[in-house]
Amino acid sequence: MRRLIPDPGPTDLQSELEAYHPIENALEDRPWVAANMISTLDGRASISGRSKQLGSEADTEHLLGLRTRFDAVMIGGGTMRAERYGRIISRPEHRESRIRDGLEPDALAVIVSGDLDLPWDAPLFTNGNGRVLIFTRKHSAPETETPVELVVMEGLIDSADVLNHLRRKEGVRAVLCEGGPTLFGQLVAGGMVDDFFLTITPVVTGGDAPRILETNLPDIARFRLATLSEADGDLFARYVQD
Ligand SMILES: NC(=O)c1ccc[n+]([C@@H]2O[C@H](COP(=O)([O-])OP(=O)(O)OC[C@H]3O[C@@H](n4cnc5c(N)ncnc54)[C@H](OP(=O)(O)O)[C@@H]3O)[C@@H](O)[C@H]2O)c1
Repeated sequence: MRRLIPDPGPTDLQSELEAYHPIENALEDRPWVAANMISTLDGRASISGRSKQLGSEADTEHLLGLRTRFDAVMIGGGTMRAERYGRIISRPEHRESRIRDGLEPDALAVIVSGDLDLPWDAPLFTNGNGRVLIFTRKHSAPETETPVELVVMEGLIDSADVLNHLRRKEGVRAVLCEGGPTLFGQLVAGGMVDDFFLTITPVVTGGDAPRILETNLPDIARFRLATLSEADGDLFARYVQD
């Protein structure tokens, strides 16, 4: 990995991550919020309905490494259906590094899903590790091996309420949102994305795949480039809310 901005030169993922401390930035009424998305050169968020194939090995390492810095990882129901998540902190060495840093070994998995039409046989629900918290309109969910708790909300679930609940009821200091385009858009619309990690992968897909943000915004949201690195041909940018 090489760092392009600031201070160009060789770097490695581990030292980049160790210099990043989102949990120290918790706000009173909500956690610090980072989003991590990957985009093709034409702004698309998936190939054949999934984003997994978009990234290089370096992007997978970046995604898994970034999770180690957060109390919770949040996704929308569409991402859970498409990507069928497993254990969020899947590698033992990552759980060990979290314990050394004073975090829970497993990150809290947070899903926003009004209708709860989720892949209940996905490993996140069946492997029995960690906890899953689902913000939903439904009042009950199937039995699962992994402990699942529902936070029942009426009508359209307000992202600000979700974040407020995470901070006040769960003590979450920093949450990483991994999309998808609908949930990410709601957070951006609410001015609630503090750090935006964007991987730009050098492919063009065309077609009708969604863009990384699929929500009407009340206004242009502005971000400022904080860091930029390159590995395996992918660009890794971190933008901060301006
Ligand atoms: N490129 C990337 O970085 C990236 C990242 C993530 C996902 N993706 C791709 O994005 C696609 C999925 O897109 P998506 O927009 O459907 O993803 P999404 O934002 O994860 O999911 C949208 C779903 O989340 C739930 N939801 C979100 N906000 C809600 C609210 N305020 N109230 C109630 N429910 C709410 C609803 O779930 P229910 O329908 O369950 O009620 C809604 O259908 C997949 O192809 C995936 O591979 C790409």
